[in-house]
Parts: sequence; structure tokens; C-alpha cells
Amino acid sequence: MPLHDVIIIGGGLAALTAANRLSKEKNVIIFTKGSRTASNSFLAQGGVAASLSSQDHWADHYQDTMAAGCFYNDAQHVKTLVREGPDYLKKIIEQGMEFDRNRDGSFQLGKEGAHLRRRILHAGGDSTGKALTSFMLEQVIDNITLIEQEMVIDLMIENGICTGVLTLDEDNHIRQYKASATIIASGGCGAVYSLTSNDPTITGDGIAMAYRAGAELVDMEFIQFHPTMLYQQGKILGLVSEAVRGEGAFLVNDLGVRIMSDIHPLKDLAPRDVVTRQIYKEIMANRQVYLNITPVNRFEHRFPTIYKLCSDQQLDIGSGLLPVVPGSHFLMGGIKTNTSGETSIPGLYAVGEAAGTGVHGANRIASNSLLEGIVFGNRTAKKILSKQTIDLPDHLADSSYIPKKLLLSLPNKQQICNNMTLLAGVERNERDLLGLKEWLENYYHPHTSVQAADRNQAEIINMMTVSWLIATSALARQESRGAHYRSDYPVSRKSWNSKRIIRQWEEQAA
Ligand code: SIN
Repeated sequence: MPLHDVIIIGGGLAALTAANRLSKEKNVIIFTKGSRTASNSFLAQGGVAASLSSQDHWADHYQDTMAAGCFYNDAQHVKTLVREGPDYLKKIIEQGMEFDRNRDGSFQLGKEGAHLRRRILHAGGDSTGKALTSFMLEQVIDNITLIEQEMVIDLMIENGICTGVLTLDEDNHIRQYKASATIIASGGCGAVYSLTSNDPTITGDGIAMAYRAGAELVDMEFIQFHPTMLYQQGKILGLVSEAVRGEGAFLVNDLGVRIMSDIHPLKDLAPRDVVTRQIYKEIMANRQVYLNITPVNRFEHRFPTIYKLCSDQQLDIGSGLLPVVPGSHFLMGGIKTNTSGETSIPGLYAVGEAAGTGVHGANRIASNSLLEGIVFGNRTAKKILSKQTIDLPDHLADSSYIPKKLLLSLPNKQQICNNMTLLAGVERNERDLLGLKEWLENYYHPHTSVQAADRNQAEIINMMTVSWLIATSALARQESRGAHYRSDYPVSRKSWNSKRIIRQWEEQAA
């Protein structure tokens, strides 16, 4: 029976940051169900927001984060994020991470939606996530065990404490690994929608397994849709960073009309939820939306990844018009944690997009997600290091722990994604959400204990679990706020100002 000090599920920036700090004193094992680079962190383009400029202050970053989040954010947690962020970033820079600089050596700071100042550090122009995760991986790789292509399928809970994980290896054998601390850092659940910026591996696994284990989840109705996904012939080709609008690009419809001019004082740099809804309206009126990039200086130099994406797809960049649609991008909620990553289950931690810290409120401001991974990855590691290691019994968990019931009939992934996009997307209403809930429950109710036959089934069960949590939470929140828009309750209601929907598993008689 493999015994470790710390198990980390996921290989993105939050996971690697925690591993980096922990591995100096602890024996750390990381599981990624895909390859080491299959994460949303790796795909992140825009950058990391932090008040590093002399013209900026954490209090301004705080104010912008709160305003974009519709002031639904946990104010204390936001303060922790934006106050501590600059120091953690300085440490990474001291270790050798290179962000783009001006000729005079100062940082080239980008601008993105809802930020009133230039405060976005970027690397490689628009491949910040790749640069940062590669850098962090290099720092830790010799000091940890990294297991790729092995999927964690469930948490082991003994006497109310998380004591490790069950995994499914490439041959579909179940394995057990024990540790006195387990960190879920497996990202959100963007891949439950058919149009998405997310890596296809982001099927909500960590969130679904935390739910099955009895951890509290929060804010599952708040799904962010990124306004500008490059789109051609019914397919998403990739993300077009908000930073492009920060450098002057603007949105037009196929009549040539600028669509954000009269919608918000920040126009094309309004918060994401606002821009997304406006694009969605245009699409519903059968008008295609384009990002006009002609004002961007030296586009190919500043945004080489996006430029390459367009050229690879033979998109006519010369026209200056990139066809765009919104796609699912980020989960503001997740596994409920404090700012040290602690969940409601002792021994279980969550960090990064999987965690519901409340810092993003009802709509995340651009480039706060990599910052979240860095700040809370470090804080979670610090908390684990401050705790006494629990002596775990060196025996296999009771095998009755492994659920026995096999499901025979399940929808496929595409059907789930199509229904989520159609019925729980940018706009929701009671009829659609009820229809979605019933459709999911006809196959499987998340409150029954089941065992997946193989990895594909395990992912489908997780996708159905998070889809059901999104649908039922969105049904319960009878108002609109930030990224959660109910066409049958189109305004925010005071009674919901600080009300959070907390979800916890209850076993049902099967
Ligand atoms: C983007 O570059 O537009 C995405 C960055 C983010 O989600 O913060």
C-alpha cells in the first residue's frame, strides 16, 4: 500500500505551486489523468493580475475585483488574494520566471476587462499559462512523484477523515493510495459544455468526488462564459484573450455596428458577463459577431499564439475580423474552502478553480485565476506544513467502501454537453433547468452510490453529477446576478445579496 504525506489531484498551476512548497519537507505524489500539460492553467493566455506598478495599489485591484464580481465576493478572501499576490509573484520572479518586459526593464503590463488599470503580467505575449506552468513544473519535477494517465476516481474517507484516494489505472484496475493530506486541484468543469475554452479533461472530477465524499460545495450556479472564443463552421478553434480588447480591439456585428458602445461605461472592456450576454443577444438575433483587431499594434508580435491559431486555421487575419462566440470558461464556485484550502472534511483540501473560496463573486475578473492558484496554492501548502502528520493505518480501506452498483445505460459526453449548452448556458429559465434535471435523473441520480466500469464511465458520471449540481443550484437561485442570468428572474434581488447555495451529498435508498 503506497503511503505518502500529500496526494495532489491535478497538474495545473495551483497544484504545482502547492507541490513546490510542500516537496521541500514532504513526500508528495501528483496524479494527472491526462498528460502533465493537460490543464486549463497551461492554456491560459492573458496573464496574472497583480498591483505591481507604482501607479497601482492592492486596494484598486480589490475594488475592480469586487465590482466585476457584483460585490457578491467574500471581501476578506479577496483582500488576502490581492494583498498577498504581489509578494508571491515577486518570489517566483526571483526564482527565475520571466514575464514580458519593456526595453527599460519594466514589466509590460496588459489591460483586460473590468480592470481600471494596466496590471496584467504576461509571458511569451499570450502564452502566460504555458510559461508559468512549465516553469513551476521544472522547479518541482525532481522532488515529487508525478503519475500521469491514472485517474483518481474517489476519495477514501475513514471515520470522517480523508485518508487518500482510489484511482483507475490505464488497465481499469482500482488502486488505493493513502496520505495524511489530499489536495483537489483538478480544475472546474468547463468541459460539460459543448462550446468551451477548457481542456477536454476538465470534466468536474474533483468536484464530483468531493460531493460524493460529503464535502460542502458552494456557488455551483455561477459559470462564466468567456465572450470571445474563435469560431468557425460550428466549431470552437480556441480562445481569443480579453487582452486583445485591452490593446484596442472591439466587437462588431455583421452589419458593422459596434455592439458594446451603449451597453456599459467600459464598453468592450466591460465585465465578462456583460460582454457575453450582449454577444449572445446578437447571436440569438441571427447576427454573427466579430472581433475587429485592426487597432491592435503589431498583432502577430503581441499575440503570437492567437496569430498562429488563426493562420493554422486559414482564417483571413488580413480582414481584421475574427468570428467569435461565447464559450464556458470558469466555475466561480466549487468545493467550499477557507483561504488555507481547508474543506469541510479534515485531511481534504481544495485549491485553484476546484475551490469555492468566494474570491470571484458572481463573475471572475480577468487574470485573477492564475493569481488565485499562486496565492492559495502557497497558503494551502503552508497550512498542511503547520499540521502534525496523522499516523495512517497501513492497511487497505475496507473494500465495502467501493460502491458495487454498476450503471448500464448512460448518455454520451456529447449529449451531456449539448444539453448543458442548450438548457443551462448563458441564459437559463425554470422550464429548461427542470427539463435538464429530469433528463439527467432519468439516467442517474447523483445521490445513488455507483461504481464506474471504466474511465469513460467515471468521467460521464462526474459530468452528470456536476451538471445536476449546476442545474439544481441555478433553479434554486431565483434571480440574476453576474454570470448567472435567469430570463424568468432578470434582475438581482436584495434577499439573495449574501445568500449562498451550499450543497452536500445525502445518501438515498437505491
Ligand atoms: C483571457 O486571456 O481572456 C483569459 C484569461 C482569464 O480567464 O483570466
